[in-house]
Amino acid sequence: MRKSLSAAALGAALAAGALVVPGNLASATATDIAAVVSPDISVTNTKAHLDQFQSIATSNGGNRYTGRPGYKASADWVKAKLDAAGYTTTLQSFSTSAGTSYNVIAEWPFGDASHVVMAGSHLDSVSAGPGINDNGTGSAGVLETALAYAASGQTPKNRLRFGFWGAEELGLLGSKYYVNNLPAAERDKVELYLNFDMIASPNPGYFVYDDNPAGNGARDDLVTYFTSKSVQTEFIDVQGRSDHAAFRSLGIPTAGTFSGAEGTKSSAQATKWGGTAGQAFDACYHRACDTITNLNLTSLDRQIDAIGHMIWNYAQKDYGSGPPPGGTNLLLNPGFESGASNWTGTSGVVTSSTSKPARTGTWKAWLGGKGVTGTGNTGQAVAIPATVTSATLAFWVRIDTAETTTSTVYDTVKVQIVDGSTTTTLATYSNLNKNTTYTEKTFNLLAYKGKTVTVKFLGAEDSSLQTSFVIDDAAVLVP
Ligand code: PHE
Ligand code: ZN
Ligand code: ZN
Ligand code: CA
Repeated sequence: MRKSLSAAALGAALAAGALVVPGNLASATATDIAAVVSPDISVTNTKAHLDQFQSIATSNGGNRYTGRPGYKASADWVKAKLDAAGYTTTLQSFSTSAGTSYNVIAEWPFGDASHVVMAGSHLDSVSAGPGINDNGTGSAGVLETALAYAASGQTPKNRLRFGFWGAEELGLLGSKYYVNNLPAAERDKVELYLNFDMIASPNPGYFVYDDNPAGNGARDDLVTYFTSKSVQTEFIDVQGRSDHAAFRSLGIPTAGTFSGAEGTKSSAQATKWGGTAGQAFDACYHRACDTITNLNLTSLDRQIDAIGHMIWNYAQKDYGSGPPPGGTNLLLNPGFESGASNWTGTSGVVTSSTSKPARTGTWKAWLGGKGVTGTGNTGQAVAIPATVTSATLAFWVRIDTAETTTSTVYDTVKVQIVDGSTTTTLATYSNLNKNTTYTEKTFNLLAYKGKTVTVKFLGAEDSSLQTSFVIDDAAVLVP
């Protein structure tokens, strides 16, 4: 009988800060990954999220306005959904003239943290009504896309981050607060911000933001996507009317879509999009009647699939690797070419066996690969000077497996830091992370400056079907 990682154990591992990949890494090559993929984001699930926003408003005085209980209830509910899916979430509070507001930020804790792809939507309504089209729709669509990504088993090349903004209706306050409180180094990592504000207007248009030349690539990808689905689009100069503005003003590429608000649909627009000429795209814009019946579900369905298309593809976009972390490598015999010298642990783990390729030279650390229940490890103690301004653990890993599951963790390797009697697991890779191309992983060790700690790789296999975790060219880099 195989032991599998239960949902509860997975939750506990995530809560403990361990990185457990709850899905399968497709054994895709770089070219496979570059292929354009278009997931079908569930309109049924998205509609259920909208039902939830409606019921939150109904039980909280009819709105989800900043400073009122319906807003906080919306934020808490969105955060709980994302927490349950494995996101790292933050409830960021800030004050406004109407009371405290909150942004919900959710990050998928995998992918290169130096390349962040963001999507966002404002979560607040005006005080007049429940705000289901404005902007339950954008929020439900971004939420469902985030949940679908987590469930998909995709492993992103880049970091995905989702923002649910408070107090947009008071002057884009939440997104401004978020951006203003993002350290400069973090701002530079945001490669793209996509905004979704009103995407299921009852008399819909299909507008693509055209107000930021830096975002023209994403803008054109949106147009190409809609065109491939036989949906015609128009550009709209949104400028300061929604939450991408704060990102745009920092020079971050932005794009977004919009199905129309108080403006009137022309007869030419009615010809290409259907609906009613001479009427507003959303006659209930900012009114009490912006309820669960104030929606066009065809628009919702198309728009959420566009969000999914953008997220799935930008998750894999190659933003280049940038300069490798430089500096002095504190590890001795880091490429294992002197065999097990300087490394301690299970004998035979450091090997020159020709069964598995080294990344460089012939030696490497091979954990697992036996297909019988057992563990093995290798590690090295390193003294990180108290004066360093950065300390980075870097290594390359190659994972092959005979396991065929796409959902169950059987064999693992943990990357650990042993600090006296405290062992911290920085990451856990499993049979689900199969990738026979060596990939580099990096971790910040600055928290250990002034300490002597042991960097340790600990493998564990179950009773059958081998998984091999092969590690080479390790480093603890300091400036
Ligand atoms: N931001 C506007 C609101 O929430 C809606 C809007 C979005 C208007 C995009 C124009 C373009 O009221
Ligand atoms: Zn509005
Ligand atoms: Zn809005
Ligand atoms: Ca080597």
